Amino acid sequence: MSQFPLVRGRRLRATPALRRLVAETRLHPADLILPMFVREGITEDAPITSMPGVAHHSLDTLKPALERAAEAGIGGVMLFGVPLDEKKDAQGSGATDPDGILNVATRIAAAEVGDSLVVQTDLCLDEFTDHGHCGVLDAHGYVDNDATLERYREMAVVQAESGSELVAPSGMMDGQVAAIRDALDAHGFGNTAVLAYAAKYASAFYGPFREAVQSSLVGDRRTYQMDNGNRREGLREVALDLDEGADIVMVKPAMSYLDVLADVAATSDVPVWAYQISGEYSMIQAAAANGWIDLDAASYESVLGIKRAGADAILTYWAVDLAERLTGRSDASRNLR
Ligand code: PBG
Repeated sequence: MSQFPLVRGRRLRATPALRRLVAETRLHPADLILPMFVREGITEDAPITSMPGVAHHSLDTLKPALERAAEAGIGGVMLFGVPLDEKKDAQGSGATDPDGILNVATRIAAAEVGDSLVVQTDLCLDEFTDHGHCGVLDAHGYVDNDATLERYREMAVVQAESGSELVAPSGMMDGQVAAIRDALDAHGFGNTAVLAYAAKYASAFYGPFREAVQSSLVGDRRTYQMDNGNRREGLREVALDLDEGADIVMVKPAMSYLDVLADVAATSDVPVWAYQISGEYSMIQAAAANGWIDLDAASYESVLGIKRAGADAILTYWAVDLAERLTGRSDASRNLR
């Protein structure tokens, strides 16, 4: 027997105030983390063609961008370094050089906004290697897992010394969380947290990012990043990282992997984050630029959907923009009810 006309779902949708009161998911600026690119050898911001609205910062222009992020009240920033091409080598030496671009940028961020934002760093070699892989290669050109862990251990310590509060290994090497935890603890950084890119898939949607970091990669990352169709394996990767001591786990990309995100959120007893990656950002920007989609509404809906699926926090290139709209600092805030 139908309960209609007794039951009417539309009753609670009748007015904006009612809809707001019964909303199940709310975004807050503190849920949002801004990935930022800092490039060596430039003095002005350099726009990234494949990511409209996102720029490479110089060490100088990083500061006002950080101030704006802090002002907007977002949760934190995730720093990526883009070294000069001629500084890249097979070992990714720039990653562990205290004067390497990422480590210098981290010191600036910690000093400028360390009190109001959680300063986080990408812990991976791909931006620093001349072959573009996330680790070092063996004689056959295969990414050598255990030799890479030695590089990650060093990188973790240099990043913590530079002021990173949360290191984020994104290379999908086996044992990376345990190795990093061990190295941090051995050097007196017991309070530096590890955000594990636990379920990271080999995605076509990283395309614009690879332009952003001027990646030298030829080929793909399929011997370490996960197969696109594997859902159960996502949970397994998360379990392994938790076992190794991950403080936070992440699913990446976000939008094509919401099922994995929901699975992880249902079982994890640590915070679960998701990364709305470059391609997910740029395809909405591109559709909006063509007039095919409303940018403010679509960007908001995409991030809200990631939170609804189970993310406690979201890395998104719209972090500051959304936060400003959520707090009424932007004209577009009316779209967020
Ligand atoms: C690897 C790394 C990648 C991203 C963050 N860290 C790319 C990759 O695996 O090629 C992707 C971020 C994005 O696409 O927005 N260091």
